[in-house]
Amino acid sequence: MTAEAGLPDTLRDLPTWTPDGVELADLELLLAGVYRPLAGFLGSFDTAMVIAGGRLADGTPWPVPVTLAVPKELTAHERLVLQDPEGVPLAVLAVGEAWQDPTTQGWRLAGTLEPLRAPAHGPFHRLRRRPDEIEPAEGPTLAVATREPLHRKQLGQLRQVAERLGARVLVLPLLGGGHDESLVRALLAVRKELPEGARIVPVPLPPRDLDGPRDVLLRSHVAAAYGATHLLAEAEAEGTAVPVVVPEPWAYDADIEVWRPVARIDPDHVQAELTPERLGELLDRGEPVPDWFTPPAVAAELAVARPPKSSRGLTVFFTGLSGSGKSTVARGLADALVERGGRDVTLLDGDVVRRLLSAGLTFSRSDRDLNIRRIGYVAAEVTRHGGAAICAPIAPYAATRAEVRRMVEAAGDFVLVHVATPLEECERRDRKGLYAKARAGLIPEFTGVSDPYEEPEDADLVLDTSQVSPEEAVAKVLDLLVSGGWVRAE
Ligand code: ADX
Repeated sequence: MTAEAGLPDTLRDLPTWTPDGVELADLELLLAGVYRPLAGFLGSFDTAMVIAGGRLADGTPWPVPVTLAVPKELTAHERLVLQDPEGVPLAVLAVGEAWQDPTTQGWRLAGTLEPLRAPAHGPFHRLRRRPDEIEPAEGPTLAVATREPLHRKQLGQLRQVAERLGARVLVLPLLGGGHDESLVRALLAVRKELPEGARIVPVPLPPRDLDGPRDVLLRSHVAAAYGATHLLAEAEAEGTAVPVVVPEPWAYDADIEVWRPVARIDPDHVQAELTPERLGELLDRGEPVPDWFTPPAVAAELAVARPPKSSRGLTVFFTGLSGSGKSTVARGLADALVERGGRDVTLLDGDVVRRLLSAGLTFSRSDRDLNIRRIGYVAAEVTRHGGAAICAPIAPYAATRAEVRRMVEAAGDFVLVHVATPLEECERRDRKGLYAKARAGLIPEFTGVSDPYEEPEDADLVLDTSQVSPEEAVAKVLDLLVSGGWVRAE
């Protein structure tokens, strides 16, 4: 380690905090000036004004509360070092206000930031630029800030508008979705179809649930920070940082096989749009995306981002009481999938996990949560790599199951199976003799006896092994996987 890797002496005694992924991306954009006029995380008044009316307290239109959540213990300090998940210090926050979110009651810190070092960049870092690293251009610059690849229609519209404005083009892929690399590759793949001199600069703008106008407003700020004079977008919005240009509608002229403005096409020759739903179905089934819609290199990236279901990573998560039959059905399913071949299978049985991955954990609420998160983490990795993870813990808490679903769905698909064998039947079986011990008070916090089991409301399948045999139960799960397209019918 070189000396510069460490913290300056004057900062060594400050408390440190690692913001979450969205906050770290916000931090990077704040430090780089992409969020100007914002200079730091927002305080309570600005946040309330932004949420209520889309404006900062001084009246400047601003679409989204950029805030920093911290545990209560950290609210007593004047300065704080913000670090990345690997512990690298990124910035010093000079706390201007510690405040409590009125809805969640969670604590927030507002204040200005002093940069320590640039955040480590991920893939395609050679393309990343801070706004001040972009040499200013003569004349107009038309930006398009997008989370989607540019298909033939958008490429045509972009060329048309750029030509009309006499503008150079700046494509800003917005990172932070599930398939950033794929998005960047899909945009690089159409570079030749962009106007001469077009640039592609990825920006780590976290995805947020914004309505149309707020989304356009935010994108206009990003575009302006990068020196754009215009933003290409589907709709205008109030108070944008640069003017928004809405392209005229285009369609595919099936007669002469080109995309062009609808106004110029004989209505009989206008080809029906490929809707996002229909595109999704094609990808799910592994069918080709038509060439008239998008260039083949983009189609290939769409398939990387959304592989056919038959080869997409999958987690089948069984939940249910001890003795409900989860392990038996899960093992039967794992065997059936291995026999069919085509996918690597990882079985994460509750009791087995507790012997290694979660050895030493108790059955307290927090340890159970940690156990389930560990299972979810491994399952998400298996899923990311295109395998099938089969999990079978009790997983009694709905919130933790939802967390696992989120983790897995960022990487592939998630199927929840509730093994809903009634408690009386589990207790009657009592193969491990645990229910007897729990009733005798020898095992505290036993699920179903002295600890809660929250029934899932989001199960894709409910099984009751007091009504069906293990073979029938496995067959039902397989049927679900076949009808969902994850497993081929025999
Ligand atoms: S979970 O709650 O964290 O999901 P997990 O599936 O790992 O539980 O472990 C459950 C298994 O641990 C049960 O099948 C049972 O054999 C054993 N066990 C021991 N103590 C308890 C307890 N207090 N509650 C439930 N199961 C227990």
